[in-house]
Amino acid sequence: MTDSWVNSAERIGADLHLELPGPGGRRAALTRALREAVRSGRLAPDTRLPPYRSLAADLGVARNTVADAYAELVAEGWLTARQGSGTRVAAGVTPPPGRRRRDAPAPVPEKAASRARGARHDLRQGTPDASSFPRAGWLASYRRALQQAPNEAFGPGDPAGRVELREALAEYLARARGVRAEPGRIVICSGFAHALRLLFPRVLRGPLAVESYGLGFHRELLAGASVRTLPLPLDEDGAQVGALGRERAVLLTPAHQFPTGGPLHAERRAAVIDWARARDGVILEDDYDGEFRYDRRPVGAVQGLDPERVVHIGSVSKSLSPALRLGWMVLPERYVDAVLDVKGEREAWAGVLEQLALADFIDSGSYDRHVRRMRQRYRGRRDRLVTALAERAPHVEVTGIAAGLHAVLRLPPGTEGQAVEAAARRGVALDGLAVFRHPEAVMSAPDGLVVGYATPAEHAYGAALEALCGALPPG
Ligand SMILES: Cc1ncc(COP(=O)(O)O)c(C=O)c1O
Repeated sequence: MTDSWVNSAERIGADLHLELPGPGGRRAALTRALREAVRSGRLAPDTRLPPYRSLAADLGVARNTVADAYAELVAEGWLTARQGSGTRVAAGVTPPPGRRRRDAPAPVPEKAASRARGARHDLRQGTPDASSFPRAGWLASYRRALQQAPNEAFGPGDPAGRVELREALAEYLARARGVRAEPGRIVICSGFAHALRLLFPRVLRGPLAVESYGLGFHRELLAGASVRTLPLPLDEDGAQVGALGRERAVLLTPAHQFPTGGPLHAERRAAVIDWARARDGVILEDDYDGEFRYDRRPVGAVQGLDPERVVHIGSVSKSLSPALRLGWMVLPERYVDAVLDVKGEREAWAGVLEQLALADFIDSGSYDRHVRRMRQRYRGRRDRLVTALAERAPHVEVTGIAAGLHAVLRLPPGTEGQAVEAAARRGVALDGLAVFRHPEAVMSAPDGLVVGYATPAEHAYGAALEALCGALPPG
């Protein structure tokens, strides 16, 4: 026998038919039925579920049965529960094709989707916590930007970007990152990837030395511009810049090596500047998550050592959102005109209102406040990861945790592939270190998992950690 229940449209805004098998195992049956309704798209993202009491009355089950079923689905990440807004279908749940609501999240790109398919827990590095985007503060800045923008802001733009934003950044980057920046040498772009496209091959040429571990996407982008990349070995002090040869440029992540995690040692910072001076070379500094440092030893920008030898590149992709597509380059004087020529008069720039909104967001102190708040939150998540591993997998060493939004778990040799698969079976999407390795790297290839701890919504993080620990190889 099955019981069924059809809710009224006014309760949750959409009809829902649930079928439960007869007596016995009611909680498990209700959990299954609700999970299936969400998975199939019958319950769309953000739909509000009925209060415990009314669903319990409709189904003829105890109130606790409903409460327990909701709690389990919240822990699994299918539902969210928030004071004042009740229990809702989680915003990140992607309904099957054809069932997407207009306000539901857009599907992730094909490549990313294939790795995350069927994953309930997204522990891939790369994205900040989207649920923490400072909507109210951004709206206030955007509104002020629109109200106060001079008329000329709506005319043809300056390829360097809005002066208001370049002034705000010059002050912020000097104060927070130790960058020596005047507005005249800052060029606004849409992010690090755009900066690479602007620089290569028309302003700088290859071959370009890169770290042996990095983002494959950036290597592909450079290969597309016919730039050969040559891998520099890494050790615990960062890139071995002493191995630089006749390259004229080197790309580094000095504040927080991506993805292995350490800062570039002070001696190497000095050595790479010496190399650039001696060889008329240039250093590209990717400062992708420099704001998120958790120990008390700030790591300033290498650019501060010699602004004429370093292109310092940053964006809001980690601090606010990669969807804003807002970034900046602080250039040596001699490259400014060439970069502006490449950028051209009407290229794909960051939009003027977003630029003015970011300028206001920085000037009003909202950016600092947001970064401080997120730093605290991410540090809390990192600590929970470290604690969970110490309890559940003490044989797994966790590294690269002094900064950033991800950590690296070192695994016994030969176990990385199995661990990634075991994680996938438990609904966890993440990458092994091998994904980030330069194909021509000659250094040893340690086994490890790159765990991004920023992406899951706060309520779903505990369940994600639980699933991750269950997937790790035994000690
Ligand atoms: C190594 C690295 N560099 C740069 C970025 C920023 O890229 P973009 O500014 O193009 O979003 C990221 C991702 O946020 C990254 O992981």
